[in-house]
Amino acid sequence: MNRIAVLTSGGDAPGMNAAIRAVVRTGLARGWEVFGVKHGYAGLIDGNMRSLGARDVGGIIQQGGTILGSTRCPEFKSEATRRQAIQALENRGVEALIIIGGNGSQAGAYALYQMGFPVVGIASTIDNDLVGTEISIGVDTALNIALEAIDRLKVTASSHRKAFLVEVMGRDCGYLALMAGIAGGAEVIIIQEVENDPEEVAQRLRAAYKRGKAHGLVVVAEGARWNAEALIAYFKQHEERLGFEIRATILGHVQRGGEPGAFDRILATRFGARATSCLADGETGVLIGLNKGSITALPYADVIGKKKSLELELLELAEVLDR
Ligand code: ADP
Ligand code: F6P
Repeated sequence: MNRIAVLTSGGDAPGMNAAIRAVVRTGLARGWEVFGVKHGYAGLIDGNMRSLGARDVGGIIQQGGTILGSTRCPEFKSEATRRQAIQALENRGVEALIIIGGNGSQAGAYALYQMGFPVVGIASTIDNDLVGTEISIGVDTALNIALEAIDRLKVTASSHRKAFLVEVMGRDCGYLALMAGIAGGAEVIIIQEVENDPEEVAQRLRAAYKRGKAHGLVVVAEGARWNAEALIAYFKQHEERLGFEIRATILGHVQRGGEPGAFDRILATRFGARATSCLADGETGVLIGLNKGSITALPYADVIGKKKSLELELLELAEVLDR
């Protein structure tokens, strides 16, 4: 092996830069040349890549986002487009590719691998919806950012005896909402994995006030049927009957942009190092993840296309704790 490339794809996640740094420096330590591909799969198709030295990845371990840039690139689902990408890699003499990204990005990586190109994936998405790893790069930092917002909102909610609603990211998965709700001590958690009823939400908030609570906090996942937009509309329409108003904060991209915390920097560094060691061992078509405390490399065939299940017992625990 002489030359490899690395790219980041899909939603950026805090810690992606730490993973890039680890890939580049452990690759250089093995005597390889390491190319950085700009703008994910879109850049790959265009052959937009350059050789990276140790200094090019200096000072980035603490930076959020990705220095390589990232895009969503629907064209990559076409085999002809992926063939173009493989051609671009071969034109530069790149022999293997490391793909840092979430569910969709790893599905694309698997598709590339099935066409005969050696790839290794690194699990990175704030959504934590990737099968094959208990936690992905970015999740811990995003959760802490959501928590900081929730803690602050609780302070003002308690001062004014107002009901507050916080929407966290997670189009397809309620993991962030579930965990932010547990850690933030929310009165109600709403996720897409479980059916919810706005009347029940109102009833639970009312019951919380009756028990003497100074605030009522709802944490809701972006992808839930009753997300912030839907709940606000419902509460507004029925405000008089329900007897209270609710204020909403949609955290959105604020959650993705933070500086990675220690956990994500270390996780990303270990993932990046394991990715190059897999390539050195000729172990490709695998997803690097964390399982039972160890860094693992699980075959794509066993993880792609599967749905990660949430620990729904935690929702029941949250209800028990809300008293
Ligand atoms: P994430 O990787 O964060 O989950 P997306 O789901 O948007 O983000 O996927 C990122 C990119 O991965 C897509 O824009 C597309 O280029 C590529 N991709 C997603 N699914 C597939 C697929 N089934 N086959 C090939 N490429 C895919
Ligand atoms: O996949 C990560 C994520 O942040 C999701 O939680 C969210 O639904 C989505 O990306 C937002 O995507 P975009 O940044 O393209 O609007």
